[in-house]
Amino acid sequence: MHELPKRVRIVEVGPRDGLQSEPSPVSATVKAELIERLIDAGVRYVEAASFVSPKWVPQMADGAQVLERVLPSARRTGTTLAALVPNLKGLEAALAAHADEVAVFAAASESFSQKNINCSIDESIARFEPVIGAARKAGVRVRGYVSCVLGCPFEGEIAPEAVARVAKRLYDLGCYETSLGDTIGAGTPLKTQAMLDACAAQVPLQALAGHFHDTWGMGAANVLAALQRGVATFDSSVSGIGGCPYSPGATGNVATEDIVYLCEGMGMTTGIDLDKLADAGAFISAALGRATSSRVARALEGKRQRESAARKV
Ligand code: HMG
Ligand code: MG
Repeated sequence: MHELPKRVRIVEVGPRDGLQSEPSPVSATVKAELIERLIDAGVRYVEAASFVSPKWVPQMADGAQVLERVLPSARRTGTTLAALVPNLKGLEAALAAHADEVAVFAAASESFSQKNINCSIDESIARFEPVIGAARKAGVRVRGYVSCVLGCPFEGEIAPEAVARVAKRLYDLGCYETSLGDTIGAGTPLKTQAMLDACAAQVPLQALAGHFHDTWGMGAANVLAALQRGVATFDSSVSGIGGCPYSPGATGNVATEDIVYLCEGMGMTTGIDLDKLADAGAFISAALGRATSSRVARALEGKRQRESAARKV
């Protein structure tokens, strides 16, 4: 068991992972306001957009507009605005839109790789090589993703070694950090730790991040399991919004509010103001016309209402 990290870095993926499978369109204005509210809450890394084929993910077609609106406010605070890119075309668009960082995304499962990016794992790695080279030449850091690290919607169980192999290939290509994605949110703490142990044998621990979807309610438990293995960076989405359009049945990421509450409650700092974060979550939940998926946000709102009622008595 590792000592828990003193500081936990949150990568807010709500504006991208959270909104990429929304059935009704969300305007660039709403996306930009969400990002600005997150920055105001203290979030310092936001995956703001994705430059993928609009035929595959129409919800993300307005990435350039979103970045254009938010860049000045983000630059004032030193917040990194990142974008997902699947190929050179996506990288060119992300660079033209002045994204601070980009992320390439591979999978540990062949079937998911085919469904999500229309190529095999080997082909995706070959495709990423020039993308990473060109990004680095432009002075832009590249993050990597491995999907389906704790199960695949089409193949079921995925061996930890299969995840580690892809994570190592992304690391060797030059990704400064690789985010390990439980795309279907079916993982449990012991499986999480076994998968991390396999990856940490191939890639330095500091270059690994956790990305847990909360489909089966294990998101926060898996974050804690990963913290106990020394992982200190986690992707999450405010209000728990999201899912992947190519992962049937998967729900949103673990809610940022829930991770902040967990980490701060255990003496780790995140630099994020929970009240302001919950307000950002309430903003996007209202825009989507649905209740938050964050239990911490719900509890906080109940507490606020009780306190307000007590003040009126
Ligand atoms: P393809 O059809 O094989 O690509 O798709 P293509 O090169 O043959 O191009 C087809 C058309 O798309 C062409 O247009 C291209 O120009 C255009 P046409 O000539 O037909 O008019 N195109 C693009 N347009 C804009 N930007 C681009 C781009 N690339 C091609 N970058 C491709 C291959 C990779 C493009 C496609 O499969 C794709 O875009 N996939 C993205 C799927 C996606 O975004 N999934 C969700 C993100 S991954 C995720 O959520 C998991 C994660 O959260 C971690 C986890 O939870 O596990 C990261
Ligand atoms: Mg995801």
